[in-house]
Amino acid sequence: MIDTSGWFHFQQHFFSIPGTGLSLDTSQMGVPTSFWEEQAHPLQQSLQHMKELEAGVIANPDEQRQVGHYWLRTPELAPTPELRQAIEQTLQQVQDIAAQVLSGKWTNEQGQPFRHGLVIGIGGSALGPQFIDRALGQQGQGLKLHYLDNTDPDGFEQVFAELGEELPQTLCMVISKSGGTQETRNAMLVTQHVFREAGLSFGQQAVAITSTGSKLDQLAAKEGWYARLPMWDWVGGRTSVFSAVGLLPAALQGIDLKELLDGAKLMDQQGRQEDLSSNPAAQLALNWWYAGNGRGEKAMVVLPYKDRLSLFSSYLQQLVMESLGKERDLEGRVVRQGLTVYGNKGSTDQHAYIQQLREGRNDFFAQFLEVLKDQEGPAVEVDPGATSGDYLLGFLLGTRQALREKQRQSMTLTLDSITPRSIGALIALFERAVGIYAHLVGINAYHQPGVEAGKKAAGTVLQLQDRLIGALNEQPNRSWTVDELSRHLQAEKQEVTIFKVLEHLAANGRVDRHQAESSFSNRYQSKSV
Ligand code: PA5
Repeated sequence: MIDTSGWFHFQQHFFSIPGTGLSLDTSQMGVPTSFWEEQAHPLQQSLQHMKELEAGVIANPDEQRQVGHYWLRTPELAPTPELRQAIEQTLQQVQDIAAQVLSGKWTNEQGQPFRHGLVIGIGGSALGPQFIDRALGQQGQGLKLHYLDNTDPDGFEQVFAELGEELPQTLCMVISKSGGTQETRNAMLVTQHVFREAGLSFGQQAVAITSTGSKLDQLAAKEGWYARLPMWDWVGGRTSVFSAVGLLPAALQGIDLKELLDGAKLMDQQGRQEDLSSNPAAQLALNWWYAGNGRGEKAMVVLPYKDRLSLFSSYLQQLVMESLGKERDLEGRVVRQGLTVYGNKGSTDQHAYIQQLREGRNDFFAQFLEVLKDQEGPAVEVDPGATSGDYLLGFLLGTRQALREKQRQSMTLTLDSITPRSIGALIALFERAVGIYAHLVGINAYHQPGVEAGKKAAGTVLQLQDRLIGALNEQPNRSWTVDELSRHLQAEKQEVTIFKVLEHLAANGRVDRHQAESSFSNRYQSKSV
């Protein structure tokens, strides 16, 4: 076991990433030099693969697509002039729309300026904007953002209650690459209903961000929405934060897009370095490989010691787990790959699961995030000579050391401060690490067949519900048990789903339920009028 505690060891494993305001410390991973030497060749191959990917080869073979999120921050790298133009034009459109909103040139029908932005999207079409909002949003600057990122009616009600009387001053962004995601569609339809009820014209204050020609695009065109911005098939949802998906919400919050994109661009430059000792993305990928034996045997626990970074854990969870969690490798062999990611924020999590991290199962490595600059305003001393920010650092270092004492691995990323540049760089670092790691373990990081499977299964449930309601309505005077309905509809082996659907309908007053002694014998009937 390598002694990872010394100053010299730290110096060998710590480096600052030029221009980004980020530094990486891998000293607590305990990777032996011999492992680096063994992996140097495969890593160089992965870097070569990334080079080809950035040059525009088909890097997502299942969907026969290019993978171009790196071009979004360096359009001059795009493989054709048309792609470059598309990226630059969209950026300009985003900036124009934001300028119109923030200057009050684009107002609602009553001539009032917008005060709120409502992002309607899910997964990759919401997590990026949410993370950037939490990290960089400033009270009183630009629009205040709200999110409908589910199909939970109670969640919708909460957001509309928040908007309250300022609903007329709310600009809606409906975001869906496919333009057909059910949750997003539902949230949009409910929002349109709420707008209608309030006598407002939804289209007048709505922007669609979607693939050209998608159902959403067609609807927005038909209804004459204020603007439509493109998504492209060469940008995956989880890597779309530097497309209009993330840039429009950010621009509406007055966030400096150039700095955000520059941070990502600078990190990309560093991630292309063939000298592995100065390539942070390759280092992350290699450390992940080492920790989990290239099989994801250890989870990554993300611990940002900064409230503004608390959504980074969920952002990263999607980026990493949707990209790397794959049943088959590129040759079609069953490999069941993945890298589990969870976390929230420090020091809060010290009062939750860090007990287990230190003393329980050694099935993880920690990814600490440290921010040097504490706050904008003046610091308050909570003890003589000590601020609460000093305590935050103390807790981070204390936990890092406590883990080391029990041979638990960790890495630490230090951000000088939270700025658009450092946040852009942080996202870009992990995007590239995911790409390199995926190549090292031989999987396609850019498709998501598992997500599609869940979407299909939900559709089947809704079809069954439709048939159930049909059967109840056909014979309104008759009540049915689950077994009777299952036989009647020839839906054998679907009794559990039938039971759950009927219980849900009954709980919401949409069918009548006659309670039996055992709930499995409950009888259901169409709603009496
Ligand atoms: O990363 C992904 O591809 C997914 O998480 C999608 O972003 C998510 O399913 C939403 O899809 P869409 O943007 O098509 O509505």
